[in-house]
Amino acid sequence: MRARIALCPGDGIGPEVTHEARRVLDEVAAGCGLALAYDEHPIGGCAIDATGQPLPPATLAACAAADAVLLGAVGGPQWDDPAAAVRPEQGLLALRQGLGLWANLRPVTPYPSLRDRSSLRPDRLAGVDLMVIRELTGGLYFGTPRGRTIEPEGRRAVDTLVYTEAEIRRVVTLAFKVAAARRGKVTSIDKANVLESSRLWRQVATEVAADFPRVRLEHLLVDAAAMRLITQPSYFDVIVTENMFGDILTDEAAVLSGSIGLLPSASLGDGPRGLYEPIHGSAPDIAGHGIANPVGAILSVAMLLRHSLGLEAAAQTVERAVEDALRAGCRTRDLGGTLTTAQMGAAIRERVVDAGGDTSSAALLRAYR
Ligand code: IPM
Ligand code: MG
Repeated sequence: MRARIALCPGDGIGPEVTHEARRVLDEVAAGCGLALAYDEHPIGGCAIDATGQPLPPATLAACAAADAVLLGAVGGPQWDDPAAAVRPEQGLLALRQGLGLWANLRPVTPYPSLRDRSSLRPDRLAGVDLMVIRELTGGLYFGTPRGRTIEPEGRRAVDTLVYTEAEIRRVVTLAFKVAAARRGKVTSIDKANVLESSRLWRQVATEVAADFPRVRLEHLLVDAAAMRLITQPSYFDVIVTENMFGDILTDEAAVLSGSIGLLPSASLGDGPRGLYEPIHGSAPDIAGHGIANPVGAILSVAMLLRHSLGLEAAAQTVERAVEDALRAGCRTRDLGGTLTTAQMGAAIRERVVDAGGDTSSAALLRAYR
């Protein structure tokens, strides 16, 4: 089997963690006869510096021609001028939109070996295993009109939250399919007591539920959900929500696991092609020191194997290697340890090698893809 992977390391710690993720992917590929072709492209701040654009057309074209995109992070203080015409984040948003990646899967599974790193009491973490599905190409991030005007009473800024029925239906349907293969519960999170778009969201979610009699649907207001994620995180199985609600709630959910450096994500659209990136940012404060946690990027490789290449066994090999390394006490600084990015990557890679041939045992598509 062959696959073309577009690498977009981006800014800050992006290149450091992407490098380790790629090495893990190479290890897995060697173990299961997967021939990979990589090409690397600028996105974000480094792309602005090189070309003036956060998403150069050549980057988008290469990503569109790839089977999967592995991305690091974008942004940094040198591009943070609020008056700037172009921003690194625009590159990421344009890539998500340009590839039609309307669903962002963010699994949160705290590791028993890291219970001491969580801000929550260990008893609150028992049974926590949730999947957040964030709508990714609509809502507050993509509404028009947007912009600034100067009015007689002062400056005015506008962002709009728009959803169509079709946009809601496809992401909620995906959430139901994912839940059907898990514990059978969808929590749809909105602000229906205030927002019209949320009332449409709630209505469409309820309609979709009728097609999935074995999956339970609950609606929860986003403020209450934010609280419950901390007070009773085991309450959740699959969460589906608006773009910005999902952005905020997943940073919050990362606290459960002990470090935002641990969490991966998959951005998916209509076909198998996907964009895989850790949920953390470019962490300019530690960039260049070689101490960033590569686990979020490495677990993104597992999601890439699962969702874009259909290599479920290989995905599990990577996930097990991460779990084993953490259980053995391998920890980067964010987890209270001293390992460098490269050492952590090596610890995980060794365990992928040890898993040997069982990556080749199956290439099965997950039930819900
Ligand atoms: C994320 C990030 C991005 C987002 C930023 C960098 C634009 O926070 O992937 O969660 O808000 O989507
Ligand atoms: Mg975010």
